[in-house]
Amino acid sequence: MLAKLSRGKRIALAIVAAAVVVAAAIGIYVFVWFQRNVPETHSGIVDHFKYGSIGAEGRSGVPYWVWRVLPDVFPEYLPDRPGNGYARLGFIYESPTDERPIGASYREDPLPTQGLNCALCHTGVLRESPDAPPQIILGMPAHQFNLQGYLNFLFASAADPRFNADVLIPAIKKANPEFSWLDNLLYRQFIIPRTRDGLLQEATNFSWMARRPPLGPGRVDTFNPYKRLFGFDMDADDTIGTADLPSLWEQRMRIGMWLHWDGNNNSVEERNKSAAIGAGASPESLDLPAMARIEEWILDLPAPQFPASRIDQAKAQAGEKVYQAHCASCHAVPSPGVGQVVNITALGTDPERMKSFTPELAEKMNTLGTGYPWRFTHFRTTDGYASMPLDGVWLRAPYLHNGSVPTLRDLLKPPEQRPTVFYRGYTVYDFANVGFVSSGPEAERLGWKYDTIVKGNSNQGHVYGTTLSSEEIDTLLEYLKTE
Ligand code: HEC
Ligand code: HEC
Repeated sequence: MLAKLSRGKRIALAIVAAAVVVAAAIGIYVFVWFQRNVPETHSGIVDHFKYGSIGAEGRSGVPYWVWRVLPDVFPEYLPDRPGNGYARLGFIYESPTDERPIGASYREDPLPTQGLNCALCHTGVLRESPDAPPQIILGMPAHQFNLQGYLNFLFASAADPRFNADVLIPAIKKANPEFSWLDNLLYRQFIIPRTRDGLLQEATNFSWMARRPPLGPGRVDTFNPYKRLFGFDMDADDTIGTADLPSLWEQRMRIGMWLHWDGNNNSVEERNKSAAIGAGASPESLDLPAMARIEEWILDLPAPQFPASRIDQAKAQAGEKVYQAHCASCHAVPSPGVGQVVNITALGTDPERMKSFTPELAEKMNTLGTGYPWRFTHFRTTDGYASMPLDGVWLRAPYLHNGSVPTLRDLLKPPEQRPTVFYRGYTVYDFANVGFVSSGPEAERLGWKYDTIVKGNSNQGHVYGTTLSSEEIDTLLEYLKTE
């Protein structure tokens, strides 16, 4: 048949056919490209924990290249602290040449997107002295990380008129020489304007936070963000949900215990999944296999040991008797009192975090996950705070649910003798008093001023052990180093 066509028509037909094939190929390529959804994965669990995705890029994520250059473009919105870029907010870079800090995940969906993971809030830093190198400790509370500062940085950048393609694209090209003309087009037309709108919307969603006392490093408001998610009226709610970050290790011994600071949930799985949602995952985006690897790993992740050379073993042994007599009933596994709630009237610590988890919220939490294989069913309200195992307690300073007491020595003092103002987030360790250095010029310069007079920050209560003799307290402190 073709032979019957004139030569000119055959050529035209061939051109049309070729064009159709090319268009189809481009179409398929673009289609496949836009379907792309590739989380960064690591075969090793440690790298998976530090950098892997748990499916949280959707709500907490920012297009990667925008996120990368924001500190270069808007350094004035970062705190005036040492380090470059996000390090100034307490993000941990393992090496100064690393592209991303611990806790920042990555996914191509279809464009590169940065998100957050568990390591962000559950990896801490310690230095043995002011000149010592930082030790990065996985599973430890991120006492140096300022989440509220991070959110404020993103929101302030988005509100700045320079958050536009003309300013951001040259910065991106400098950081990424492979940024193509197609990227350029997409970022200019869609990504940058949509990111700005998205961040400004989030700033509105989080405006309740600015109406509460500042959190500072190492603390977040755990449950108030859920209320916003469920559409609660945040102006009618005046609760302060400030909570100190806890450790993640040794979860196996916590199976069945009533935990979270207020003891509102006794399922390890639900505590893990609610954390992933807190980090920005949604029921749809939550990556269950990626989460399962972390859940499995933290079951038996050991709590780091206090340096043995710094423990007086004989004293510690004497201290164990004091511990058994005054602390074990509530803190030593397998005593039935561990992982149970102590009534706030008896306990006397700050009530705000407990009050922030309202009956209405508990009810709503138990609807999350409906239609998925893991719906929450274990949330409840309580009338106090939970007594928890004290494994690795030396790395969990500052102490109590609001992080209001800087060292274990201070916690063993009568409340009126505990520091009323101190500095938190400084990473040099105080081995004698068991906690971080929280006063003095360097702690003041690099730390964040904690004032116990502020609502939600009370350092009262938990008077156990405070009337012991000074010798008993010394031995108890020595024993607590071995926990
Ligand atoms: C934005 C910071 C943040 C991120 C990210 C985060 N957590 Fe947490 N996590 C917290 C805070 C704060 C608490 C204490 C909650 C409370 O009781 O108020 C907590 C508590 C927990 C607890 C309960 C600990 C206990 O002993 O009571 C577990 C388990 C936990 N997180 C696991 C995870 C896992 C797994 C991830 C990653 C999926 C994760 N967290 C991500 C802040 C975070
Ligand atoms: C009646 C039960 C009970 C007894 C006895 C008790 N505690 Fe506690 N402990 C708690 C509760 C409840 C909390 C949580 C309080 C809060 O955060 O508001 C707590 C918190 C702590 C914390 C803070 C942990 C952290 O991660 O910040 C430490 C440390 C601690 N207790 C040590 C001790 C020591 C040492 C003794 C013995 C002298 C002791 N406790 C006796 C119930 C008890």
